[in-house]
Amino acid sequence: MTKSESIIDDKGYISAIYGSLIEIKGFESKVRVHDLIKISSHNIFGEILQIYSDHVVAQCFEGTNNIKLSEEVINTLEPLSMELSPGLLTHIFDGIQRPLELAFNDSKSNGFLERGFFLPPLSRTKKWHFIPQVKKNSDINHGDVIGTVQETPSIVHKIMAQPGTSGKLSYIVNEGDYTIVDTIYSIQSNGKLKDYSMLQKWPVTKSRPYMKRIIPSEPLITGLRVVDLLFPIVKGGTVAVPGGFGTGKTVIQQSLAKWCNADIIIFVGCGERGNEIADALKQFSELKDPRTGRSLLERIFIIANTSNMPVSAREASIFSGVTIGEYYREMGYDVAVLADSTSRWAESLREISGLLEEMPAEEGYPSYLASKLSSFYERAGVVQTFGKDLSGKEKIGSLTIIASVSPPAGDFSEPVTATTKRFVQAFWALDANLAYSKHYPAINWLTSYSNYPEYISDWWFERDIDWAEIDRDWYEIRNQVNEILSKENELKNITQLIGEENLPEDQRLILFIAKLIKDSFLMQNAFDEIDNFTGIKKLLGHIKLIILLFKEANELLKNDVIIEDLKDLDIIDKILRIGHTIPNNKFQKLTNLKEEMKKSLNNIKYSLEFSKKL
Ligand SMILES: Nc1ncnc2c1ncn2[C@@H]1O[C@H](COP(=O)(O)OP(=O)(O)OP(=O)(O)O)[C@@H](O)[C@H]1O
Ligand SMILES: [Mg+2]
Repeated sequence: MTKSESIIDDKGYISAIYGSLIEIKGFESKVRVHDLIKISSHNIFGEILQIYSDHVVAQCFEGTNNIKLSEEVINTLEPLSMELSPGLLTHIFDGIQRPLELAFNDSKSNGFLERGFFLPPLSRTKKWHFIPQVKKNSDINHGDVIGTVQETPSIVHKIMAQPGTSGKLSYIVNEGDYTIVDTIYSIQSNGKLKDYSMLQKWPVTKSRPYMKRIIPSEPLITGLRVVDLLFPIVKGGTVAVPGGFGTGKTVIQQSLAKWCNADIIIFVGCGERGNEIADALKQFSELKDPRTGRSLLERIFIIANTSNMPVSAREASIFSGVTIGEYYREMGYDVAVLADSTSRWAESLREISGLLEEMPAEEGYPSYLASKLSSFYERAGVVQTFGKDLSGKEKIGSLTIIASVSPPAGDFSEPVTATTKRFVQAFWALDANLAYSKHYPAINWLTSYSNYPEYISDWWFERDIDWAEIDRDWYEIRNQVNEILSKENELKNITQLIGEENLPEDQRLILFIAKLIKDSFLMQNAFDEIDNFTGIKKLLGHIKLIILLFKEANELLKNDVIIEDLKDLDIIDKILRIGHTIPNNKFQKLTNLKEEMKKSLNNIKYSLEFSKKL
């Protein structure tokens, strides 16, 4: 947030208060919508929503208890902005970028934020080791990397020329330790000299400019088998995770934060339980990043606007998260923004719209719900950014948005879920029945979808495992698994009528293989040390093993083997336990299992041929 340092002396006074909204008279001719205001004596910030000829209406980011009419309000003449510089990662902020660890240390209120608390988001005194990457007198344009700072042991923070900058670098400091407000370079442009520090500010509602969008071609590997095979996402993609109460939204978001292969994770807890955020923070700091072996927290930035914080800052928390995400994308990183849950944000829009007495649309949500949601999801994407990277290369980065939705009573036709569906390319529908029967992740394989497989089939093809018995690649295996699961669904009704034992053997095989796919492959325990993340090689080996069993069993059925003979094999039990018994780095074990499976199927075949001969 950029307020207190640059407050301009432009004052008004409160003329009415209703809920979190205040009416202000005195500066209506000078303000713009989204400008930030401050109630002076309480240090409460707010944002202008409506402007009339004789007053303006603003929503406060904190409660309005004890505030009186005629109290002074200051107009900062600038919109809510994020401070961008080294010092963001590993920290936890609220929706208006107040540093929460410091806030909790500072206040005596047991984890509740004191109203009116304000500290600069990022430390003005901490020194960072800056290494210049360009020479004096170079031509500099917006986005060029001027220097680097090792922000955490795993992430290099690139200090880039700010949007709108171009000119000659007339001064740059030597390598050394500097605060984020020290001047580190100066640029001469049109005869004017301007000094710059590492600190930038950017309004949260405005997308950062980039050179061009690029078609996504790489998956974001999540380590969740059901996602990476059936409903994959791309780096730069958009996903909604709708699910009723307790269906596993938060567990999915947290396991993505831990294991997905983005460089930077922005975790936005919006209106969810405070203890979940505290829990997540503890887990992130204890866990090791599989890629670097260092604490996961080093690549994570957390925004918490929990259920005990004012609803009016929920929207700010969502857009603050995306803004920080875009900033790291501009450095050329793959960023994932995880938001839990967008329904709480939509509810806050409904509440404020009600106070503003706007005409309600469906279920009381404002008519601009769709444009709000789209302005969030449209900020995802793979882009070539402005400016040059180290050694003059271009920078390409991605921003992926994965947002949970909490439809009341799990009804996906309600407005927030239905509207979100229009703006996302992948939809992981969490199913209460699956969750009740402890099938986790409870992603329903019939109602979920992803539009991304075509974009990433080449990527998977290049990484296919070399098993001669199955000459199908990821894309084809995926189609086959979908086919088996939908056939099983068709057979369900008949099975209920006539009983499974009365179905022909080939249909019983479909049911058997579908059950194996569900229980062995789709189910995954987020809390098991081995099962919590499945790498791409293990994923391919695991599913190919099941498909190979299907292929060979089909042959055996033609030779009068019955399905019951297959069900009793030891190997079936071993396949069911692959998830938590075979670690990602022990692929050979899967190959051994395949050989063992072939052997036991052959044994059935030989004993059958033998008994026929007798
Ligand atoms: N992948 C998983 N593996 C094992 N257990 C899981 C998994 N996902 C969810 N669970 C179980 O389900 C419980 C509820 O999950 P979670 O808190 O993520 O639900 P939620 O959808 O976020 O609920 P709410 O609507 O209350 O926010 C977890 O505490 C956990 O016991
Ligand atoms: Mg939750």
